Amino acid sequence: MARSSDLGILIEKLAAARAVTVLTGAGISADSGVPTFRGADGLWRNFRAEDLATPEAFERDPRLVWEWYNWRRELIAATRPNPAHSAVVELEQRSEEFWLITQNVDGLHRTAGSRKLSEIHGNIWMVRCTDCGSVEENHEVPIALLPVCSRCKGLLRPHIVWFGESLFPEDLSRCATALRTCDVLLVIGTSGVVYPAAGFASMAKESGAFVAEINLEPTPQSGLVDLSLQGRAKDLVPLLL
Ligand code: OAD
Repeated sequence: MARSSDLGILIEKLAAARAVTVLTGAGISADSGVPTFRGADGLWRNFRAEDLATPEAFERDPRLVWEWYNWRRELIAATRPNPAHSAVVELEQRSEEFWLITQNVDGLHRTAGSRKLSEIHGNIWMVRCTDCGSVEENHEVPIALLPVCSRCKGLLRPHIVWFGESLFPEDLSRCATALRTCDVLLVIGTSGVVYPAAGFASMAKESGAFVAEINLEPTPQSGLVDLSLQGRAKDLVPLLL
């Protein structure tokens, strides 16, 4: 459980900070009912990432990959942002400088009202043409199993960064700036094992930021952060305001 003295320290650090950066993972959306990837009920317990979330998997069987994304789109469409997402919006509004880096593709931060953000792994409601590269919003549930581009009729894929793919360069450079210049980095609900995001806490720390983590349990990052608070994101994040 998070100690109230630790919470107090973080509240003071946030109040004194000019620039705040927040990094989120699946744990912040778990309280909205979106499954995480690595927990006891995590998606990667029941599905093989290499069959569903790699460019090779899509090349081999785009229909299967779209089936899986359709299932996730249906699940996510039924969820709403929770108080932790709203608290992150409030942090954005009251911080002189702010950036949110999310690994989540569910779009719940946007729905909650976050505007200064990088969705570094993409967004499940965006599709990209495998021929002409154009990116469009698409909220159809279910989407056709082999959806085609409205411009060139090429096959559409989810606009998601899969295993083996690099982050979008513009996101990487925006995130590096946010990590190098923040006074406080708040890391919420990520297992901290997927790079490059797994290296973000140490980047901010090296640049002098105060780094705090909120998670249900200790993570590989817990030893390097200044403060590690254990509990549910939806309970703890609103207390920081
Ligand atoms: P993980 O599933 O790896 O980790 C979720 C983390 O959230 C764990 O450390 C949990 O302890 C914590 N957690 C669960 N419920 C929580 C709650 N209610 N409050 C606070 N913490 C909670 O998810 P990520 O770290 O986001 O990639 O995974 C990183 C990437 O791996 C994902 O973006 C995804 C996946 O493969 C792509 O989709 C490209």
